[in-house]
Amino acid sequence: MAIPEEIINEIKYKNDIESVMAPYVSLKRRGKNLVGLCPFHNEKTPSFTVYPENGSFYCFGCGVGGDVFSFVRQIENLDYIDAIKLLAERSGVTLPQDGYDDSMQKLKNTVFEINRETAKFYHTYLMSPQGKWAFDYLVGRGLSIATIKHFGLGAAPNSSNSLINHLKGLGYSISDMIQANVIGRGTSAYNSQQEYYYDRFRKRVMFPIINIRGRVIGFSGRAMPGDDKAGGKYVNTSDTPVYKKSDNLFGMNFAKNHCDERVILVEGNMDVISLHQAGFENAVAALGTAFTDEQAKLLSRYTKEIVLLMDSDAAGQKAMKRAGAILQNTGLDIRVVLLPDGKDPDEYIKKNGAARFKALLEGAVSEIEYKLLTAVEGIDTNSDDGRLQYLARAAEIIAESNDIMTRDLYIGRLCDKYGVSRAAMETKVADIRKNKIKQREKQELDEIIHPKFDRGDVNPERRLYPAATAAEETVIAVLLQHPDYLKRAIEDLKPENMMTELNRRIYKRLCECEQSGRNIDLSYFGEILTPSEMGYLSSLINSEKGDKNAFIVLKDSIKVILDEGVKKQTSDTKNMSIDDWAENIQKIIEAKKKGN
Ligand code: UTP
Ligand code: MN
Repeated sequence: MAIPEEIINEIKYKNDIESVMAPYVSLKRRGKNLVGLCPFHNEKTPSFTVYPENGSFYCFGCGVGGDVFSFVRQIENLDYIDAIKLLAERSGVTLPQDGYDDSMQKLKNTVFEINRETAKFYHTYLMSPQGKWAFDYLVGRGLSIATIKHFGLGAAPNSSNSLINHLKGLGYSISDMIQANVIGRGTSAYNSQQEYYYDRFRKRVMFPIINIRGRVIGFSGRAMPGDDKAGGKYVNTSDTPVYKKSDNLFGMNFAKNHCDERVILVEGNMDVISLHQAGFENAVAALGTAFTDEQAKLLSRYTKEIVLLMDSDAAGQKAMKRAGAILQNTGLDIRVVLLPDGKDPDEYIKKNGAARFKALLEGAVSEIEYKLLTAVEGIDTNSDDGRLQYLARAAEIIAESNDIMTRDLYIGRLCDKYGVSRAAMETKVADIRKNKIKQREKQELDEIIHPKFDRGDVNPERRLYPAATAAEETVIAVLLQHPDYLKRAIEDLKPENMMTELNRRIYKRLCECEQSGRNIDLSYFGEILTPSEMGYLSSLINSEKGDKNAFIVLKDSIKVILDEGVKKQTSDTKNMSIDDWAENIQKIIEAKKKGN
């Protein structure tokens, strides 16, 4: 690793895992460890475990784990070096300027710059006489010049190389432009060796996507009406080193300063812009994705309440239901606005004005009310059968609420409206809840007995070599817990003896630590392992494998690995040429000697 060991240690020492986690997870002591609800997946019973003893954590529910660096890396969505930097800053440790690999950071900075220059280019073009077609379109949709400037809107010329030429002129390389995903690469139909490059956005109105720090991270380009077929109505930036669409929300850069009370979640970029222009600066949109957990998490950092304002078409309703389900576990209050007459928010506000829209917002119904209102669809409540059917559905909906006052309120309303006795409805709701609680308890028990997370997912070769993989894991676990055995282990077991690639990589690193006289520490793996592989390693370091008779367990496991290796080679030889076979026999004999 390029950052010196002492610096990593110092950062680790000054950032104890409990205090780093405190703002994100609420932890309770359990024995010598701490447990809490995992911040990386939704759960009701805590399976996120922190081991202060060795500064590691592991979630038995979803398999994330690692050390304090892995935690910061994942919760803040950083790469490895940036996580180290952040913790260094947090604790006042100065990192050496050179001597570590910051090529990723350099690339990110270049992509940010390219994005900014691209946004400027599109905006300048939009405001120029040549961009009149796009400017007229936006003004025709009711946007003021101030709004166009505020959002930095632009237009991409109808040309396949004007952006490329502009960026070239500024000195950017083709490969960086590709990284920023503002240009595309193709190969000639006649000669597949011959590559050509083209502007990704052509003849489109351009919406820059800006993150909460005010940097342009990507673009959404809308086709002109009538051109819709070519490449889709919207073309969006794919994921780049600085952009992941599932983590971002259009308009969040502005909304973050106006959403202490609530955020309005809409579907489209144009909806966000119209609402902002009408004074509702707390509107955001999911960027052409179905609403994600990450977006929910981002919102929950800034606000208390989400108003879902979706198009009243079928797709909008579906998107709203999905967003509602994801938001359910964030602790945010959810309210729903029903837009009348099949319009989207942009059209509604243009037709009816800001005051009517405000009234609509104020009439936002709670999620439960919304469900009760829509559950009536397709049911004729004038008939007794229909009424009973509706009340049964309604009881299910009310039973979902964990608040007794809320349940009481809606039970009361329904009974008055449909003329059934309160006692009957209350019993019905209570029965449903009892069943639900039973089901949940059973499910929780199931989760404890059969953890959802399967280590085979991280180490896929386990399916091929189950016995060897188990033994490899034991070896790694014991060595992490008893680094003093490493010297002996290396004599018998070489990295190449490990049958699964992942464990080979881990063991190789262990051997390197031994050779360079470095202390074994989870932190030395952060660079060579993915976040989920770190979870795997963390589960090993915290397993009980090294607790008893560790040395014997280690020797036995090494023998299993070597034997399994021999078995594999023997079966491989069946399909071998004579020469390969002769060479191989020699290897087997040597391996056998070592194993015994
Ligand atoms: P809409 O089709 O509702 O578009 O898609 P819109 O935002 O209301 O645009 P106007 O009013 O017709 O100009 C909603 C959102 O879904 C994403 C975009 O983010 C869009 O804002 N989308 C839509 C895509 O990503 N690709 C598409 O082809 C269509
Ligand atoms: Mn629209």
